[in-house]
Formats: sequence, C-alpha cells, structure tokens
Amino acid sequence: AQIAPVITIDGPTASGKGTVASLIAQALGWSTLDSGAIYRLTALAVLNHQVPPDDALAVAQIAEHLDVSFHVNGVTLEGQEVSSLIRQEHVGNLASRLAPNPALRAALLARQRAFRRLPGLVADGRDMGTIVFPDADLKIFLVADVLARAERRYKQLIDKGISANLEDLLADMRERDRRDIDRSVAPLVAAQGAHTIDSSKLTIDQTVQTILSLYRT
Ligand code: CDP
Ligand code: CDP
Repeated sequence: AQIAPVITIDGPTASGKGTVASLIAQALGWSTLDSGAIYRLTALAVLNHQVPPDDALAVAQIAEHLDVSFHVNGVTLEGQEVSSLIRQEHVGNLASRLAPNPALRAALLARQRAFRRLPGLVADGRDMGTIVFPDADLKIFLVADVLARAERRYKQLIDKGISANLEDLLADMRERDRRDIDRSVAPLVAAQGAHTIDSSKLTIDQTVQTILSLYRT
C-alpha cells in the first residue's frame, strides 16, 4: 500500500503553525493534525478527573485512555464539545507543564500517527518532524520574534472578545518557550533536514506560498 506523504510544521507558540498548516492542507486537499490540541485535551481531562499534574503515571493513564473525537466543527472529550474550552490560556499552560512527561508522550504517539492517511497529512506541533513523523516528506521549522508572536496572540484574543494584557502574554510566552526548549524529552528543536522559516515579517500567505513551493520542488 502507498504511504501517505507528510509535511511537518514545528515551532514555538504563535509562530503561525496552526493557521499555516490548515491553509496548506486546504491547498493540497490533505488532512491536518493539530498535535497541540491533543496535549490540551489531555490537560483538560487531567483537570476534569482531578488528577495531580505531578503524578506522571496517572497523567499517562489519562492520555492512554483519552476519549476524543475530532469532527469538522471541532472536537469532543468524553462526548462533550470542548473546542473553545481547550483554547483557554490555563489549559495551554497546564499542557505545557505536562508535556515533558515521557510516559505521557509515549502514550500519545500512536494516536498522533493514526492521523496519517492518503492523500496526505500536514502535522503541526513541537516534535512532528523529530519524533512523530521522522520520515516526513518536508519538514518546516516556523519561527518568529517573541514580540511579534505576543502581538499576534494578543490580537487573536482581543478579536475573540477575550481581554488580554500584552506584557503578561509576553512573559508567559517566554516562560513557555523556555519550557519547550529546555526539556530533555522531545525538546523544541529544528528536525534534521528542516527548512527554517522566520515569519516575523512575512504575511500568512507568503509563508504558505514559501512552504508550498518547497514541497513542489
Ligand atoms: O502554541 P501553544 O503553546 O499555545 O499551544 P499548542 O501548540 O496548542 O500546544 C500546547 C502545549 O503542548 C505546548 O506549549 C507544548 O508544550 C505542548 N506540545 C508538545 O509538547 N508537543 C507537541 N507536538 C504539541 C504541543
Ligand atoms: O499555531 P501557532 O500557535 O503557532 O499559531 P497560530 O495560532 O496559527 O497563529 C497565531 C496568530 O498569528 C494567528 O492569529 C495568525 O493569523 C497570526 N499570524 C500568522 O500566523 N502569521 C503571520 N505571518 C502573521 C500573523
């Protein structure tokens, strides 16, 4: 059987991974894997089941038995629609605190790989090119200045009617970057052979076109 091609897009928070990944998938007619959502769903399940975040095995058990279903309009956790719940800042922060747990990461591996299907998959996250799809056809490391990223996140929140403070977002982002980069398991790093794209001064469309032309050549 033919193996589905994969494009991986890894990078720090708010570099534009999710936005760019879905536009590329749309252009190619492929499916997407938002791996951050899986970590956020695990965090939400940990909160719902009142599991202590430091109990590595209990957290991995939650990940192993995660009852989620992705559909066109969103995602459900144990039958409950949670698309906006998982986007809350405290859920993202807990996801980032849980993410260094190796047993948790191992438990989520097969679940992420199962998203690979024909005609192709665009996967975004932190370790898509390094760990989850090391044989990807194209690997992108999407970066942007921390200030550009904080401003993007700020605008995103304000547009959704959520109040936000730029200083707090910036501090939070630096903290999350540090945790993602410094962890010993699946740290945020460009995969071997990855193309690094700095989107600080690129529009979304320029970023998408750059990646599509890399794939087509
Ligand atoms: O980008 P942001 O931090 O807002 O959130 P996300 O991409 O939805 O991911 C939430 C957290 O999950 C990140 O801060 C990472 O620590 C973690 N994560 C990970 O460790 N590996 C992935 N492949 C994706 C996300
Ligand atoms: O998935 P990730 O956390 O990397 O970022 P995102 O949620 O896709 O993008 C963060 C915000 O930056 C979104 O509101 C995008 O519209 C915006 N943005 C971008 O992604 N790329 C640019 N070149 C400019 C803005």
